[in-house]
Amino acid sequence: MTGSQVPLLSVLKGETCSPPPMWLMRQAGRYLPEYREVRKTVPSFLDLCLTPKLAAEVTLQPLRRFPFDASIVFSDILIVPFALGQPVAFVEGEGPKLDPVGDGAALARLDPAVAATKLSPVYETVERVVAELPDKVPLIGFCGAPWTVATYMVEGAGSKDQAAARALAYRDPSLFQAMIDMIVETSTIYLLGQVAAGSRALQIFDSWSGSLPEDAFARWCIAPTKEIVARVKQQVPEIPIIGFPRGAGPSAVRYARETGVDGVGCDTSLPLAWVREELQSLVPVQGNLDPVLLAAGGPELDVRVAQILEELGQGQFIFNLGHGILPYTPIEHVERLVRLVKGVSAG
Ligand code: CP3
Repeated sequence: MTGSQVPLLSVLKGETCSPPPMWLMRQAGRYLPEYREVRKTVPSFLDLCLTPKLAAEVTLQPLRRFPFDASIVFSDILIVPFALGQPVAFVEGEGPKLDPVGDGAALARLDPAVAATKLSPVYETVERVVAELPDKVPLIGFCGAPWTVATYMVEGAGSKDQAAARALAYRDPSLFQAMIDMIVETSTIYLLGQVAAGSRALQIFDSWSGSLPEDAFARWCIAPTKEIVARVKQQVPEIPIIGFPRGAGPSAVRYARETGVDGVGCDTSLPLAWVREELQSLVPVQGNLDPVLLAAGGPELDVRVAQILEELGQGQFIFNLGHGILPYTPIEHVERLVRLVKGVSAG
């Protein structure tokens, strides 16, 4: 290995590591039987996120099985609307449900001042995890990007096309801007709290950035992310921040140039040669194995991992999936992936 002792942080400073550091988005979760055991002991997913002892335990679970180079705090991007006072529930088999915010009156009921205290269990989770981790495995803190969080706040649920949020942004941009500003404010506090508690890198998940045309992408994805990055770095200039503009396509280049992030997460659809030429030349990149291929396994998995390593492994690169790991992923496939990325001896 080249560079200093913490591969993930070295890469985010622009160094090259061989083999590259790796972690998996949603690496804690339902594909692990030990996660399902803990999950059974609490009535809801949100209770798990807000009980530091249990959240810390499930954060550490994947690290006990796999030699990943980063941990990510167990929480959810929808903790932010919850903390703002919007009722949030995770319905088994249906995903998140929120009381939709569609007008100024509903927005006015949300309160960034109370949000700060409601987020504090997550900081305790961070403290507990950091106390257990070796120095070479940094804990990543995270939040959702304002656009993606706003889509859930407006729709009241996940959706295929984010049409309600897009319509509100077009119809009433000043109301939508007020909602975005509130999320920027709270997310900044939330990220800074996670850093104060011991997170050594941050990731901003913009899962639905692919649903906007270019001007709206600039206004609702790039600008608020840039604002969060600037505010966080004003307080803690050294903290590396990975942005994940899922589905952004060629707009990921503008995102990389303008937001100020230290690394860009690449989704599964981005061609490797394009990523190398257009993005990796600007910033460290992370990605982008298809989570369905990891779940499927077999010779295709070996072939694709080799391609990713060949195309991106010579530069500033963090191996990851192109989206979160799927609950039905066999553990042996993750073990195989670790061997493929890290070399046989480390597996
Ligand atoms: O990566 C990690 O290990 C940390 C944990 C983490 C979760 N959610 C745990 C979780 C992270 C980083 C997230 C981010 C998240 N949450 C995103 C952005 C990334 C992405 O996937 O696009 C989004 C959009 C959400 C919102 C969300 N949370 C949805 C849509 C769902 C339901 C879908 C599902 O998989 O059931 C969740 C629930 C959720 N978040 C689960 C986990 C482990 C499953 C709930 C359970 O275990 O009962």
